Amino acid sequence: MTMGTTVALGVSSSISVYKACEVLRGFQKNGLEVRVLMTLNASRMIAPLLFSALARSKAIVDPIQEESGGSIAHIELAREISLFCVAPATANVIAKFAKGVADDFLSTFYLAVDSPVLIAPAMNEAMFLHPRTQANIRALKAAGVEFVEPEKGYLACREEGWGRLAAPERIVEEGLRLVRRSRSLAGKRVLVTAGPTREYLDPVRFLSNRSSGKMGYALAAEALSRGAEVTLVSGPTALLPPFRAKLVPVETGGEMGAEVAARAPEADVIIMAAAVSDFRFPETAGRKLKKNEFDGRIALVPTPDILEGLGRSRRKEAVLVGFAAETDRLEENALRKLREKNLDIVVANDVKTEGIGFDADENQVVIIDRNGRAVRTERLSKREIGRLILDEVEGVFGRKNR
Ligand code: CTP
Repeated sequence: MTMGTTVALGVSSSISVYKACEVLRGFQKNGLEVRVLMTLNASRMIAPLLFSALARSKAIVDPIQEESGGSIAHIELAREISLFCVAPATANVIAKFAKGVADDFLSTFYLAVDSPVLIAPAMNEAMFLHPRTQANIRALKAAGVEFVEPEKGYLACREEGWGRLAAPERIVEEGLRLVRRSRSLAGKRVLVTAGPTREYLDPVRFLSNRSSGKMGYALAAEALSRGAEVTLVSGPTALLPPFRAKLVPVETGGEMGAEVAARAPEADVIIMAAAVSDFRFPETAGRKLKKNEFDGRIALVPTPDILEGLGRSRRKEAVLVGFAAETDRLEENALRKLREKNLDIVVANDVKTEGIGFDADENQVVIIDRNGRAVRTERLSKREIGRLILDEVEGVFGRKNR
């Protein structure tokens, strides 16, 4: 790890709070600087002085009550760190993060951070398995937060069960992996397309599809979290672009094609997640057509396939990724698209099953490379699917640019 890399270690009030000292030392042994942030309750269980001494910097409990010297402590530290690790994390801390409650330093800090976030829960089994806690964990995972699952064992409440803080070595190992990954695409340009396109018949009527843009936006967020410079060429969606993405809004397939073509020569990775309309109207009327002007038939003409064009003109070192939206023969159709469009990776997307694929928060895909190697994912949030896709992209990029 490079010198000067800093980890913020959040400590909340679990009986396992003493194990946070070992997590702290584990990070230090790997060359990381550690700053400790404690909740008020944690500071009642264990003196902040212990953490201050180990970390060789003052543990932060509630700086609002202290002299701050005019600086905005949570924002300043949030920009400095390469990882925010909370170990142990109570059910309360997890719930506050999931809902965006910011009523103390730790929870305020979470909102300010844009580094990777790793949470190691510790609590009684009933609390951990409670549907509310599990829903909060799922919500945080969908937002890109990662977890070190607790272990089964003897708990402080004298019950056996799930909820015991994971071993400090596991937490440190995961943390180091996230720090490395936060730079794995540093200096790389990633171009992502997302959302539907609109082909206008007249100023008020258009042809489009059910794409929400969520998969493409999740891919952009994941690439950003790995240090890439990300351009997001997006059709109309209801989504907020991820922090630090360069958004290029478009409407028609023609506009999307032009924006992609202008940026493709510079891109190291291109991911076509957009659902581009395959057809358009021969022309767009300049005024609203009257209903008595229709004879019940509408002519359509095909649109150019943007991805196919990229496949023909591509740089060999760049990684080209396409999606295949299918309702049947998923892998066979996807592999055919990979070959026909000269892709490195195709993501086969089942758009028939309710709850995944189009216009859903979750997805389940098969990621296939040129050698026909297939990664079949579970049903996960789109952010987690994006992570698995980018892992494959990095693998291919590494092999091409060895
Ligand atoms: N695509 C594109 N330009 C188009 C149509 C599709 O760039 N005009 C891209 C999509 O972004 C996606 C991939 O091609 O990455 C596959 O799109 P899909 O709709 O699954 O397949 P099509 O090639 O359009 O084939 P079909 O509709 O016959 O399944």
